[in-house]
Amino acid sequence: MKYIVGIGGMTNGGKTTLTNSLLKALPNCCVIHQDDFFKPQDQIAVGEDGFKQWDVLESLDMEAMLSTVQAWVSSPRKFARAHGVSVRLDASDTHILILEGFLLYSYKPLVDLYSRRYFLTVPYEECKWRRSTRSYAVPDPPGLFDGHVWPMYQKYKREMEANGVEVVYLDGMKPREKLFHQVLEDIQNSLLNRS
Ligand SMILES: Nc1ncnc2c1ncn2[C@@H]1O[C@H](COP(=O)(O)OP(=O)(O)O)[C@@H](O)[C@H]1O
Ligand SMILES: [Mg+2]
Repeated sequence: MKYIVGIGGMTNGGKTTLTNSLLKALPNCCVIHQDDFFKPQDQIAVGEDGFKQWDVLESLDMEAMLSTVQAWVSSPRKFARAHGVSVRLDASDTHILILEGFLLYSYKPLVDLYSRRYFLTVPYEECKWRRSTRSYAVPDPPGLFDGHVWPMYQKYKREMEANGVEVVYLDGMKPREKLFHQVLEDIQNSLLNRS
């Protein structure tokens, strides 16, 4: 069985943290990080607001991300081997792929591929504070969070809801361990219901 999990949601919601814990706990589990598909800086458009438009779908090479997902779908074993994931040789032929990123449910060709879609959120103040403590390869210019990051987050979330995309919301304010166990149990239950 092939099972694709989305760990989506806002910037600094805790997506990468949760994903790394799940990867260690789930058998035959590969990961694809959406952040790896950002286009080069010189291809990122500058908006009327003067900000480089990083937080929009057009800044990501989603075709390349989709091809990578398709490579996993066509042969999870080969994909795992190529990415250094050891494959357990037990009877249950379950293969899991985690897609992790901030715009997982806004790209049409991907949206129906998920078995389960999670969406991490924290309140505005917490999100802004967490973001201010991070150091990114391309540092945020002053005003980017309120001028671009937050409005784009709201826009895509509204669209996702308007399109009726079904997600499981996760409270990113919960302790890391609690979130991890909650999602691990949920995935395990969902896998049992399918087999
Ligand atoms: N459950 C949590 N509670 C408090 N802080 C968290 C939690 N999960 C992650 N963090 C912290 O928040 C920041 C963003 O986490 P990260 O997993 O990188 O988020 P994302 O991948 O969604 O941007 C990091 O400093 C991380 O240590
Ligand atoms: Mg991350």
